[in-house]
Amino acid sequence: MSSSGCVLVDARRVFAESFGGAEPQLGVFAPGRVNLIGEHTDYNGGFVLPMALPLVTVLVGTPTSDGKISIVTTAEGADAPHRVEFEAPQDGRPLTPGNPSWANYVKGVIQHYRAGPVPGFNAVIASDVPLGGGLSSSASLEVATYTFLQQLCPDDGDPVQKALSCQRAEHTFAGVPCGIMDQFISVLGREGHALLIDCRSLEVTPLPLTDPGLVVLITNSNVRHELTGSEYPARRRQCEEAAKALGKESLRDASLGDLEALKACLTEECYRRARHVITEIARTTSAARALKAGDYRAFGKLMVQSHNSLRDDYEVSCPELDELVSLALEVSGVYGSRMTGGGFGGCTVTLVEASAADRTKQQLQEKFSGSATFYITKPSEGAGVLLL
Ligand code: GLA
Repeated sequence: MSSSGCVLVDARRVFAESFGGAEPQLGVFAPGRVNLIGEHTDYNGGFVLPMALPLVTVLVGTPTSDGKISIVTTAEGADAPHRVEFEAPQDGRPLTPGNPSWANYVKGVIQHYRAGPVPGFNAVIASDVPLGGGLSSSASLEVATYTFLQQLCPDDGDPVQKALSCQRAEHTFAGVPCGIMDQFISVLGREGHALLIDCRSLEVTPLPLTDPGLVVLITNSNVRHELTGSEYPARRRQCEEAAKALGKESLRDASLGDLEALKACLTEECYRRARHVITEIARTTSAARALKAGDYRAFGKLMVQSHNSLRDDYEVSCPELDELVSLALEVSGVYGSRMTGGGFGGCTVTLVEASAADRTKQQLQEKFSGSATFYITKPSEGAGVLLL
């Protein structure tokens, strides 16, 4: 756990600086994620195929007896102030979201924690998951917070309920009607495996991803377009509208045949949104089969189809992500490349032969019109406790 090691050192140092030289008693971590394929399918009851990253959010802290919660963040890019204090919720008095926005993820998880009451505590948050980079920095903060609370006042340990509580925190305290993918993989990630998650039944199929000849390269475009806030809920609404028009509970239940038959009942835009979701769900199960068979070429093709569908039908890509994908696909040894996460900026994920990884980075470094950051990653473990 080399990355969480560095983040942990940072968190411990800041804890001592912030809380009178004391050493924290407890430490936990929760990873960010990259989604290999299955984008904007989770809130449609579809399949996703993410893996947990070695990039993590760490939370260290100590319970106190004064009922006050005092938290400091060192996360780069977090809005000010970087220290907040509030009363632990008591006697049914709920916490409410406010400023700074980073604290809302923590407050939301405290509010939706499944055991309690939560005592006061002092804590420091540190993270190397890039904020707003599409690698689930928020889910990793939620899941780290929940994992910390489990050390203070244990719940029943049910991992699925844990992910669902963190998702609820994001809905109610961050105002993002997200699906379950990010919180789920941050809790249940498995070293050396991508997880095929059925977001309707929440059944998980771990798929080994340890071939030394293969690299998962993440490229952060370092752009974030401000559309995310309004566009994500809008997409979700359009999917619900489309499902209703097709007489289905969710788009998971619809086929392309259903969609074509009732095309006239939908706006052209809703039709395209639904077409993305229906084809993306099929691509994700095909990709899982290809990965199982070691057919990286087939997997890569599906990634490119996914990107094109997100760009043209779902309209959540942006010129910088399109550029990164096109440049990567010019390199021999690249199987496939696509935008990953919610979209409108953030990262691409590229599946590439290990021997071509440096070449790919070099091409992107030299030819991308913006300034990119790279991560060569391996599927990592979900959230856990750190020995201090
Ligand atoms: C964000 C959301 C996820 C998922 C993706 C798109 O990351 O948090 O639930 O919908 O976008 O696949």
